Amino acid sequence: MTVIRNLFLTASVASVAVAGSGDNLKSCLKYALPDIGSVAFPGDLFYQAVDVNRYNLNIHVTPAAVTFPTSSQQVAAVVKCAADNGYPVQAKSGGHSYGNYGLGGTDGAVVVDLKHLQQFSMDSTTWVATIGSGTLLGDVTQRLHDAGGRAMSHGTCPQVGSGGHFTIGGLGPTSRQFGAALDHIVEAEVVLANSSIVTASDTKNQEIFFAIKGAASGFGIVTEFKVRTEPEPSTAVKYEYTLKVGSTKERASLFKKWQAYVSDPKLTRKLASTLTLLEDSMVITGTFFGTEEEYNTLNIGSQWPGVNGSAIVFQDWLGLVGNWAEEAVLQLGGGVPSNFYSKSTAWTPSNLMDSDTIDKMFQYIDSADKGTLAWFILFDFQGGYTNDIPTDATAYAHRDVLIWLQSYSINLLGSVTQTQINFLDQLNTLVTNDKTPYSAYPGYVDPLMANGPEAYWGSNLARLQQIKEEIDPKNVFRNPQSPSPAN
Ligand SMILES: Cc1cc2nc3c(=O)[nH]c(=O)nc-3n(C[C@H](O)[C@H](O)[C@H](O)COP(=O)(O)OP(=O)(O)OC[C@H]3O[C@@H](n4cnc5c(N)ncnc54)[C@H](O)[C@@H]3O)c2cc1C
Ligand SMILES: *[C@@H]1O[C@H](CO)[C@@H](O)[C@H](O)[C@H]1NC(C)=O
Ligand SMILES: *[C@@H]1O[C@H](CO)[C@@H](O)[C@H](O)[C@H]1NC(C)=O
Repeated sequence: MTVIRNLFLTASVASVAVAGSGDNLKSCLKYALPDIGSVAFPGDLFYQAVDVNRYNLNIHVTPAAVTFPTSSQQVAAVVKCAADNGYPVQAKSGGHSYGNYGLGGTDGAVVVDLKHLQQFSMDSTTWVATIGSGTLLGDVTQRLHDAGGRAMSHGTCPQVGSGGHFTIGGLGPTSRQFGAALDHIVEAEVVLANSSIVTASDTKNQEIFFAIKGAASGFGIVTEFKVRTEPEPSTAVKYEYTLKVGSTKERASLFKKWQAYVSDPKLTRKLASTLTLLEDSMVITGTFFGTEEEYNTLNIGSQWPGVNGSAIVFQDWLGLVGNWAEEAVLQLGGGVPSNFYSKSTAWTPSNLMDSDTIDKMFQYIDSADKGTLAWFILFDFQGGYTNDIPTDATAYAHRDVLIWLQSYSINLLGSVTQTQINFLDQLNTLVTNDKTPYSAYPGYVDPLMANGPEAYWGSNLARLQQIKEEIDPKNVFRNPQSPSPAN
């Protein structure tokens, strides 16, 4: 059957072949992916809007082809077509990279859209789940729930893909208790640059396993994850404290109280917390994973007197995850594409901002020309389990971070302006005391950052470049900021 179909396709490809530089690539891909609609090229109807479908509208990318394989073997065949013809390759899972790196991040890549890789199963003895790398986070949550009330740590936006999220970090409200999403991976199936399909784990292909847990986009395509899971939390309390407006001094004072509270090393891992700055308010939100009685004993409200707070108790996990998703929509529009720019940086327990720097940060924020009202800054409290893992155990290198900063500036009318970019740039310079290279979260890619790889992978970069040299010396898997081969 397959043989006959392939023979037929060879014939039809030959008959439709047209002259052009991408000709060999085209015929190779059409042969590798015989099903109708499983490969698209520039010039095809709705190519840009449907097949490419950029998330960050500010970054223009035209891939050489977008492919939709249905199996690991087809992924391998696509990689072979691209590598043989000298094209870079990037996998696309949820397509939510801030730099459109799932589309290559720059023109001319062969995109491997993983949306058909949806396999799922649960081993109810070990509670290890097998998850296809095209599965979006919302479906991960639902499928784990349906398979015995299980869960794993990951971020809060349901449209983000497991492929790009589990391989770059994956920080979410339960990470302080259970680690980043990538800390859950016990095994992965990976397609390499020479188009072989390998299994990577603590006992097989360990260097590849190291690389895909934090830097996969430069090393291969994960087609399937095996992840450990946790019982889903049965009860949780979601709290929210809002300071409407407030003077610069009041805002700085509230920030200092929050930073002091979350930097207490004795603070329970069951508590997640984020401080958000917006044009007209400052909000402290988070989830406590425990009962209302336990939550009340924390007496969080007493930390910030005079600030209005509220709390909701959740008895069902899906309801809580749905509530986080609504918040994600309020911030970046969730799954909806827009023009935006974002930066990140981080503090460890030993280099937290001092009181003077916090004052300067608020003076700056309250006086700078931001170029828009649609900006916001998140301060995410991390640490806990995520920091129990040694820095050299996975490519993800930021095991000492206590607080992540994420800043965003959106333009609803068109391209992001230089004023918007400058606002976020200068903020980062100010809060890190101009220390370069500073840390940046590799999941919040910042294509304008000159020292991207150093900031993303820190002390693990040299080892990644060595592994790259061994398994992908021609740099088949690349985007503008992936590790380059050591030479
Ligand atoms: C609204 C929103 C909310 C977010 N919230 C969080 C959050 O709470 N916590 C957090 O940690 N992050 C969060 N992120 C960041 C998110 O984790 C990253 O953008 C992530 O890389 C997106 O993955 P993706 O599959 O959707 O994107 P894609 O663009 O498809 O992929 C991103 C990168 O990963 C590579 N990749 C994708 N699949 C594979 C694979 N199978 N094998 C190898 N490489 C692969 C791609 O080639 C690309 O380089 C958020 C992003 C958005 C837009
Ligand atoms: C708290 O809420 C009350 C009533 O809605 C309001 O008048 C007050 O300004 C709020 N205080 C703060 C600090 O936001
Ligand atoms: C493909 O690359 C891997 C990693 O370098 C190597 O172990 C394997 O032998 C290669 N396979 C083939 C068929 O060349």
